[in-house]
Amino acid sequence: MAAFTSRSTTLIAFAVILAVLSGAAEAQLSANFYAKSCPNLATIVRQGMMAAVQREPRMAASILRLFFHDCFVNGCDGSLLLDGTNSEKAAGPNANSARGFEVIDAIKTQVEASCRATVSCADILALATRDGVNLVGGPTWSVPLGRRDSRAAFQSLANANLPGPGSSLATLIRMFGNQGLNARDMTALSGAHTIGRSQCQFFRSRIYTETNINGSFAALRQQTCPRSGGDGNLAPLDVTTADAFDNAYYTNLVQRRGLFHSDQELFNGGSQDTLVRQYSTNPGQFNADFIAAMVKMGNLKPAAGTATEIRLNCRKPN
Ligand code: HEM
Repeated sequence: MAAFTSRSTTLIAFAVILAVLSGAAEAQLSANFYAKSCPNLATIVRQGMMAAVQREPRMAASILRLFFHDCFVNGCDGSLLLDGTNSEKAAGPNANSARGFEVIDAIKTQVEASCRATVSCADILALATRDGVNLVGGPTWSVPLGRRDSRAAFQSLANANLPGPGSSLATLIRMFGNQGLNARDMTALSGAHTIGRSQCQFFRSRIYTETNINGSFAALRQQTCPRSGGDGNLAPLDVTTADAFDNAYYTNLVQRRGLFHSDQELFNGGSQDTLVRQYSTNPGQFNADFIAAMVKMGNLKPAAGTATEIRLNCRKPN
């Protein structure tokens, strides 16, 4: 009996070590992952994003949002890019909202022509996000690579994991916490709302009913977002420098000019006020924290047992 117990303990310990080792092997992304297998990757992605942002500056924002919405749903696995069954594109936070998929398709076509069946759609999205941010005035950074694409999408997880614009600070902290991101990461990542556009339906209640809002800002937004109708009318997320990636998101918050209820929650007498003030006066600190949080978010892994591959077409499994 004693011998049996000690042997089974040894077996269990061995299994645990194996599980930890295989997890660690999978966890290891590296910036030079494709250095040999696809040496032109960075150039191809950069050129694709240059063309896209030149056509429409907002595309930098749209791609950045795709990366966030991909990573929060079973990790950064390109699952958001899949069409068809259980599509995340059809989930509440994405339907008639997530955009830029054809830009990723065009870059993927170029990458496949140069290095066939080598680079994941998830990695292309991560690189395109970095380049988009940089092309509209934001910082650049080294992107750890080596992600794999999931073979399936996770519509119900997309509905569950992505925060809505009516969220409280406690909800935001909890939902980012569920992904292993702390409140500081959440506040830095929210600085992404320094670029891009929103539909009226997502900020209407804020500009008509809330009191912690700058009066002339509310009046300005009401001009193109009526009390009823015009649900899809667009407004910039950053009223100051709409298409530039800078720290104006935070100066706006300090002036009570956050567009979403959830934005203003970060500066409304709560735990993130001090950090928002710091970012509003220290763009270098914002950039450093934003990069660190993007890399951390970019490290989110698919659940153990998820079937993965290098997809040839970002819209469908091989
Ligand atoms: C903190 C919780 C967040 C909430 C509640 C939220 C909510 C939203 C909503 C409602 C929109 C407008 C969508 C539309 O009008 O169709 C939006 C746009 C956007 N979000 Fe967020 N978001 C959050 C965090 C983030 C994060 C972490 C990032 C990236 C790191 C991000 C990047 C963007 C960008 C760039 C846009 C503009 C997209 C475009 O113009 O196409 N958001 N967000």
